[in-house]
Amino acid sequence: MNYQGVINRYRDLIHLPTDIDPVTLLEGNTPLIPVPALAEELGGGFELYIKFEGLNPTGSFKDRGMTAAMTMAKAKGAKAVICASTGNTAASAAAYARRAGLRAIVMIPEGKVAVGKLAGAIAYGAEVIQIPGSFDEALSLVVEISQKSTVELVNSLNPYRLEGQKTSSFEICDVLGQAPDWLCLPVGNAGNITSYWMGFKQYHQLKNTGLPHILGVQAAGSAPLVIGHAVDHPETIATAIRIGRPARGEEALAAAEESTGKIIAVTDDEILAAQKMLALNGIWVEPASAAGIAGLKAQIQTGSINVNQKRIVAICTGHGMKDPDIITSKMTKPTLLPADYDAIEAFILRKP
Ligand code: F0G
Repeated sequence: MNYQGVINRYRDLIHLPTDIDPVTLLEGNTPLIPVPALAEELGGGFELYIKFEGLNPTGSFKDRGMTAAMTMAKAKGAKAVICASTGNTAASAAAYARRAGLRAIVMIPEGKVAVGKLAGAIAYGAEVIQIPGSFDEALSLVVEISQKSTVELVNSLNPYRLEGQKTSSFEICDVLGQAPDWLCLPVGNAGNITSYWMGFKQYHQLKNTGLPHILGVQAAGSAPLVIGHAVDHPETIATAIRIGRPARGEEALAAAEESTGKIIAVTDDEILAAQKMLALNGIWVEPASAAGIAGLKAQIQTGSINVNQKRIVAICTGHGMKDPDIITSKMTKPTLLPADYDAIEAFILRKP
């Protein structure tokens, strides 16, 4: 049978009424890419895989959660959905709302959303509101609106978002035959880390696939779960995870603790260095998505994680094309040559 999206694939494991038709863009089924050269760069002696979630239909992992949240919103008869977003949720909500025939209202922090995400939300026909405030302020506003109206909230406070997102754990176990030893991923509002942990636990109960240690990684300027209190003015170049009050912070801490993993912070420079390492291995991700690898690198360097003979999966949550400015603002300009054979030959034959 042709692939039909995460709800149909894992229907029995997702807590959704069985008789409803999924709102889907055939999300999920993303590749688990072996990156042996990158493992060597990090010191070697272990297996490393990238789960490239940027290859979902709207370019991020949010689509896994949105198929479930939008399916339920439609089934409940909602006419409109709303979310706060650093960009990816907005684009995903917009696309899935369109599939469901619902209005999408998305609220973003002004000037802090990468261009590919904003363009997505607009292209898919969302009503975009920007506020001169943070993601956290936007989230508390949309929560209030959803409580006082019939507009359905599709942030990851909506439990169906987690139901959809946990399917990535199932896919990883299906490919590897068992859970990895470590799972590394970025943490912002903390819905995704919560979903993965739910998924691994559920699959383990059912199929005895084992449990990974979870390494959650925040950006140093936006690391409430590492410093132990909310951050009023979060900052980081990884705008996707520029979040000071994670809605599912408690669950994230519990996932780290129960899995004997940890939540750590990395600097923007470490994130950008990891983004470059990934890209030079053929996997271009947006900065936030490189945080998992940045965290793994730091932990290996300080000897905090023993990776010897281990199998490690890093989740790359969003595609690099979401945030091209990070690259183009810093790049050396492409070489300009005359449209002339000799000049081009001389360039190619030069010693770089
Ligand atoms: N990576 C990317 C690319 C994201 O867009 C996000 C969150 C995360 C990681 C963190 O996931 O919030 O579940 O811990 N983006 C949200 C948004 C906040 O609005 O798109 P989380």
